[in-house]
Amino acid sequence: MSIPVVTFGPDQQFVVGGLERLHGPVTVVRRCTELTELLAACESGLAMAAVISADTSDLSSSLVERLDAVGVSVVVLTDDAEEMLRLEAIGVLPERADIAAADLADRISRAVDRQRESPRAAAGTAFAGLFPDAEVQLPAAEVVREGAGRVIAVWGPVGAPGRTTVAVNVAAELAARGSSVILADADSYGASASAMLGLLDESAGLAQACRLADQGVLDVAGLTRIAEEVHVRGNSFRLLGGVTRADRWTELRPSALSAVVERAKQLADVVVVDVGFCLEADEELSFDSMTPRRNGAALKIMELADEVIAVGAADAVGIPRLVRGLGELKDTAEQANIRVVLNKVRQSSVGRGPRQQLLQAWERFGPGMAISAYLPSDPAACDAALLSGTVLLESAPDSALRKAIAELSCADIQQNRESAGRNTRALGFLKR
Ligand SMILES: Nc1ncnc2c1ncn2[C@@H]1O[C@H](COP(=O)(O)OP(=O)(O)O)[C@@H](O)[C@H]1O
Ligand SMILES: [Mg+2]
Repeated sequence: MSIPVVTFGPDQQFVVGGLERLHGPVTVVRRCTELTELLAACESGLAMAAVISADTSDLSSSLVERLDAVGVSVVVLTDDAEEMLRLEAIGVLPERADIAAADLADRISRAVDRQRESPRAAAGTAFAGLFPDAEVQLPAAEVVREGAGRVIAVWGPVGAPGRTTVAVNVAAELAARGSSVILADADSYGASASAMLGLLDESAGLAQACRLADQGVLDVAGLTRIAEEVHVRGNSFRLLGGVTRADRWTELRPSALSAVVERAKQLADVVVVDVGFCLEADEELSFDSMTPRRNGAALKIMELADEVIAVGAADAVGIPRLVRGLGELKDTAEQANIRVVLNKVRQSSVGRGPRQQLLQAWERFGPGMAISAYLPSDPAACDAALLSGTVLLESAPDSALRKAIAELSCADIQQNRESAGRNTRALGFLKR
């Protein structure tokens, strides 16, 4: 069967002519005048490969991802060395513009074969890069070393159990102890880390970083520039603010986010990520696999996390929600060490001896996991922090809540030093 191909670019005359003269395995079914037309043609199932020549500056990793998702292999023809690097960085291996038609046809056939055999994984080996998986690659110009930083995701079920409070204050405590820390707000439903830190941040640093990653040009220097510095008692951490307008969640594309996290791991010892509550796979909510996925950001972070702090409100509504959510969490963050934290612990909601009561309830209903920390309810400390736009370490350093979060962060450092993956120190908290 001849492979149906669509083309775009001023050089298509040359490309099409050459391919047609072969009378071979490739048939050009449409010459497009715009990239959007090419995308529409591919999404309607017209083609199995796309050949793009000349101006490829609008070819982003999102576009490549969308083409990949509909099983279309992309071949880009260019002689611009800088553009070649960028294309490689977004996962497309370019070919020289004067490639012989027979070679081009051969490349297309092999790319399509690979795509067929292993959709979304056609990249990364041999010529293969021709059409790669949907992940955003980091700029090829640099020797990319695997970032050494650890990723701590702070998750919690629906409601407002205190994810952001924990994320912001864990970041601050780690920074105060001398770790280099980046806090990223990836909550695609209600970003609030910037507001909690008193920053009127409409710039949404995380979205900016994702945009650069999407174009394949995010480097450590760029990330450092974008991430805002937040000072905490003589130390500081960096913040990548989230998207505060509800309609901007599409800017946190999973592939770009994953590249941002990889960069952040190169920049910092610890990357703390505040994620949204919802871990449901959006595909299951939609028939259209091409719709952007609002929960994609949280799901991607869960895949990347070394550790997840799961925060639940310690009351009759919060605990069942946490228990239900943990089931999903374990499936989405299989590799991560999960630590359960009960927040807003108070007598008025659970009765006398709240820890004991909570522990008993947890043992009865909880999903067989230890509770790592109990954070007391302290509206006065939280309000003071919110009012002054600072972290508890600054606004209420002696509060029991701050101390419990400091202990949680400290345990994190200790645990990491001792051994990754074991959850024993959790019991230490209970004995206290
Ligand atoms: N331990 C606590 N004691 C009292 N209030 C708290 C506590 N933790 C969080 N809060 C308050 O609860 C509200 C929601 O917290 P937030 O961290 O924004 O939740 P989430 O990120 O889960 O939506 C905020 O007003 C915050 O100050
Ligand atoms: Mg929040």
